Amino acid sequence: MKAIVLTANGGPEVLQLRDVPLPRNGQPGPGEVLVRVKAAGVNPIDYKLRQTGAAGMGPGRILGVDVAGVVEKVGLGVTHLVEGDRVFYAPEFTQEGGPGGYAEFNLPRAAIVSKIPEHLDFVHAAAMPLVALTAWESLMTRGRLRPGETLLIAAINGGVGSVALQIAKAAGAFVVGTCSARSMGFVQSIPTVAGTGPDLAFDYATPDWPAAIRAALDGGAGGLDIVFDAAGKDVLLKTLPLLKNRPDDVGRIVTIVNPEGKLAELYRTNTELHYVSLMHKRPSMEPLRVLLERKQIVPLVERVMKLEAAGEAHRKLEAGGAKGKTVLEV
Ligand SMILES: NC(=O)c1ccc[n+]([C@@H]2O[C@H](COP(=O)([O-])OP(=O)(O)OC[C@H]3O[C@@H](n4cnc5c(N)ncnc54)[C@H](OP(=O)(O)O)[C@@H]3O)[C@@H](O)[C@H]2O)c1
Repeated sequence: MKAIVLTANGGPEVLQLRDVPLPRNGQPGPGEVLVRVKAAGVNPIDYKLRQTGAAGMGPGRILGVDVAGVVEKVGLGVTHLVEGDRVFYAPEFTQEGGPGGYAEFNLPRAAIVSKIPEHLDFVHAAAMPLVALTAWESLMTRGRLRPGETLLIAAINGGVGSVALQIAKAAGAFVVGTCSARSMGFVQSIPTVAGTGPDLAFDYATPDWPAAIRAALDGGAGGLDIVFDAAGKDVLLKTLPLLKNRPDDVGRIVTIVNPEGKLAELYRTNTELHYVSLMHKRPSMEPLRVLLERKQIVPLVERVMKLEAAGEAHRKLEAGGAKGKTVLEV
């Protein structure tokens, strides 16, 4: 099969198109399915692993943690999928040679694979699993977001932040977002159940954006219920004073990146802190499928490129200023 293979760790040029054997010679084991990949999402984790080789992602491995495709063969014991089903999922790092989305075939555990809602094409389906599963786990499972709560999303323009906005509006939250000036127009145009964009948006490059948020939230008296940090750096330290801090109502922080600063301060304010790393849970895909079917979340695709252009796709994503997802057609 054709695949984009890591030939070394380094710049985008280490991604090379090669002919390689099918995973497990194309024979799914018990509980597995062979999927013919039609589209593969590109994510920041891909270029981070390409650069660093972390998680064993060295020469010979195939990147790619978002797949949409068609079930080609079904292993023993798989009951919810048949040949020909259109499916999407986030491949796991434990998969042979994988995770392996940047290839013509992929061999996941069937337990992580869901059917694509009928109205979605492969490209838009491939834009969803990793970012939507991460946002769902962060906001709904760990963050326990409730209607009427006030949520800050840092990096609201990104793949994760933009779907987090759509989920949060569907859940009835008041959403404040931060992004750069170049992404502001895109952020204001993101479709949600309540119209477009967040309730408030701030440019994180302006020197005192936390004070501007405090002023907008009625002097901070109400405060934020949750900070969802998809940006890292100093976001947590800067937003900590904006979180609710009352004996019966304390704020929650959920981060998907490595934050800077002395997080020991959190104990003084009883703030809850959740670190989230992608969980491969098909049950979480079910509510997301419902939101997709009702068009309450809409995949946002910024660019579609050919599999062969994976290196160029990495270059573009690394340049920042995300306005939706980058997807490779296979
Ligand atoms: N833990 C997990 O399981 C998990 C899962 C998915 C993603 N992640 C991580 O979460 C992060 C976001 O992922 P993504 O897919 O949304 O990335 P993305 O689509 O590349 O978007 C990230 C955006 O963040 C913006 N940004 C940079 N610094 C910022 C700041 N200080 N404040 C606000 N926004 C800022 C950048 O926009 P500008 O260039 O316009 O500033 C950039 O486009 C990445 O680091 C990724 O590796 C973790």
